[in-house]
Amino acid sequence: MHLLICGGAGYIGSHMAQWLSAQGHRVTVLDNLSTGHREAVRWGELVEADLLDPSSLDRVFLGRHFDAVMHFCAFSLVGESVRDPYAYYRNNVAGTLNLLEVMRRHDVQRLVFSSTAAVFGNPVSDLIDEEHPKVPINPYGASKLMVERILVDAASAYGLRSTALRYFNAAGALPEHGIGEAHACETHLIPNVLKAALGKGPALKVFGDDYPTPDGTCVRDYVHVQDLAQAHALALGYMESHPGAHAFNLGNGQGFSVREVIAAAGEVAGRSIPYTVEQRRPGDPAVLVASSDRARRELGWTPAWTDLRDIIRSAWDWHCAQPF
Ligand code: UFG
Repeated sequence: MHLLICGGAGYIGSHMAQWLSAQGHRVTVLDNLSTGHREAVRWGELVEADLLDPSSLDRVFLGRHFDAVMHFCAFSLVGESVRDPYAYYRNNVAGTLNLLEVMRRHDVQRLVFSSTAAVFGNPVSDLIDEEHPKVPINPYGASKLMVERILVDAASAYGLRSTALRYFNAAGALPEHGIGEAHACETHLIPNVLKAALGKGPALKVFGDDYPTPDGTCVRDYVHVQDLAQAHALALGYMESHPGAHAFNLGNGQGFSVREVIAAAGEVAGRSIPYTVEQRRPGDPAVLVASSDRARRELGWTPAWTDLRDIIRSAWDWHCAQPF
């Protein structure tokens, strides 16, 4: 198959390109390089285009036939979305609409969409399955949920086949392929823990230790980025026999607190991690853990990275090799 990976120069998109290439697929990466990295495009051609510029999108689709599109382009920082919601709705919703319209003009009828646990808002059950109420508490989650709704409508109006994959906490890297998590302004826990361990960043700030969790820090479900890529590839096959719009939650089904992540990273790095306890970060739910039974059952998804230490070790090996 020939796949277009929108946002393929970014963290998850670059791992997607590696996975698809290893499976023998042809890959084209579309990216505006606003947050992605040219050097992360190691598989397939890079075409620079912007979802907010439909004419640049048309140029990408002209003369190329894509069997499906995988869509990773998005702004994805919760706090930033609260401060600048227009930017999030424009980029994540209007940009996606442009992409869907160009796909329709060029008769591309398969999409795998990068969604998020943030569509659920504050959890009302221990494990979050697909039926959990979707009440996003920030513009980021709302923008992704709006796209999910658009995909449902597009299935009935235009016959678009789509799968939305709601990631819990993407983590890890593939150091042997030279790709990992590199954000200009890093907000995620594991990279910040590892940077603190390496002395490449300040002491870690733990955002709150007064949550209603066993050790007072927030609990999250960390899932390896390569396992996310595997799920996207399975979704391609699933859509062949399942028309319509689908959605699956992707996580390991096990929660780890911030303190447990720090302890595991300390073991991996063989050193203690300097940290201070700070105020809560606005918008952080206490616990987010996925039920991925549906993905396992219907997609046949079997995460390979089920041990938090292995996930952290892959990120550690990658961070150790980086100049920053
Ligand atoms: N944390 C710290 N210090 C840091 C960074 C994070 O204590 O330097 C804490 C956070 O407060 C949170 C946990 O570590 O409790 C995980 O934070 P991340 O920023 O790594 O990830 P989030 O859980 O905030 O984000 C994830 C996805 C988002 C999604 C969000 C839904 O990355 O895309 O869950 O709440 F929107």
